[in-house]
Amino acid sequence: MEWKIKGIRGALSGEVRVPPDKSVSHRAIMFGAISRGTLRISNFLFAEDCMRTFEAFREMGCEIKKQGNDVVVNGVGLKGLRASQKDLYLGNSGTTMRIISGIIAGAGLPAVLTGDKSLSGRPMGRIIKPLKEMGAGISGTDGDRPPLKIEKISGTLKPIRYVSPVPSAQVKSCVLAAGLYAPGITSVTENFQSRDHTERILEHFSAEIKREGLTTSVTGQKELKAADVSVPGDISSAAFFISAASVIEGSEMILRAVGLNPTRTGMLDVLSRMGADISVLDKRGGIEPEGDIRVRAASLKGTVIKAEEIPLLIDEVPAIIVAASRARGETRINGIGELKVKESDRVKCMTENLKLMGYEIFEEEGALVVPGGGGTLKGALLNSYGDHRIAMSMAVAALMADGETLIRDTACVDTSYPGFMRDLESVKK
Ligand code: S3P
Repeated sequence: MEWKIKGIRGALSGEVRVPPDKSVSHRAIMFGAISRGTLRISNFLFAEDCMRTFEAFREMGCEIKKQGNDVVVNGVGLKGLRASQKDLYLGNSGTTMRIISGIIAGAGLPAVLTGDKSLSGRPMGRIIKPLKEMGAGISGTDGDRPPLKIEKISGTLKPIRYVSPVPSAQVKSCVLAAGLYAPGITSVTENFQSRDHTERILEHFSAEIKREGLTTSVTGQKELKAADVSVPGDISSAAFFISAASVIEGSEMILRAVGLNPTRTGMLDVLSRMGADISVLDKRGGIEPEGDIRVRAASLKGTVIKAEEIPLLIDEVPAIIVAASRARGETRINGIGELKVKESDRVKCMTENLKLMGYEIFEEEGALVVPGGGGTLKGALLNSYGDHRIAMSMAVAALMADGETLIRDTACVDTSYPGFMRDLESVKK
């Protein structure tokens, strides 16, 4: 599949209700499946990545049903999962592979976890190490890459106090998930705060979670109690519209019911300090807070993004880069290491695509520099590199460009935002 996008003369205006949050949808199934009782997940994200989680837990004997836009899960309790009869294929979903490994290892079940080409190239050493320390038999292929093999164990894992060398919610969640099965307290200390959806949903399911600064602990071997979950809109999907409407002159958009968990809203803070006109209307509470976001075009200035801000906006960096290209003055993005091990090497892919459009960004002293300066991008033949967020960010760049852009290999967008093009078309004026 490919997208042909013409640069627009007009503005973006109107409303979009972005798809449900991917991270929350994954966790609602994963932790719902191992809780006791039945839960309804309303506004579940029926996109490729979350369907891999959905199918994987069905393979392990959990009854999970689609009901309209909702999913109903009959939790089987901590000990109720059974080994899958076949390899679990997890597609493009790093979140599924990393968190499910903690659950499967904790449950003592054997499994082989496989993925697509992109997932097969992603580092798993970050979860293999703590899980081995807990006593799991887990190994990768060619070092630490998928497929992952998890061996059956007869006893239980040991609780650990893990200091994570990478700022990653997936690693934190994997260790906490395994800790649910270990006798005693398992804790994870991060260097920077990462998204806390796991902590919130486990608290909602009555787990004993303690948070002290950058350390989160869970008391193991305590059954989780199923409770309904309502999934907010995904701010990472809203990001493309927020970025586009901030820089395309005359634009005004409202993004409805977007998740506003403070560990996910780094992009709003960064763009606001760049001078963007963003306001949150009608913020509502819940396990995950949500609200409507209004964005009006403004004149942006460059900024410095600190390494500790990165986990709070990790998936939004490609969209931020596109907005920053239009700012007065340079934007310097520190702490970009993790961006290189996402669905693609996002630093490389953004650099190459923007270069094809006549715009240069570059690395300097470990930071990614976007020189700003406006200028006009020119339409070009681009590649998504099989990465949904690269495809959508380049679609925003294409709107800002002169002439026509062709983006190849865009089926990957189905992993998080199947209706993206339709929504984008609906707000072009
Ligand atoms: C996710 C965490 C982030 C993010 C990913 C989803 C999650 O990864 O990039 O898209 O749901 O926990 P890391 O925590 O590994 O940075």
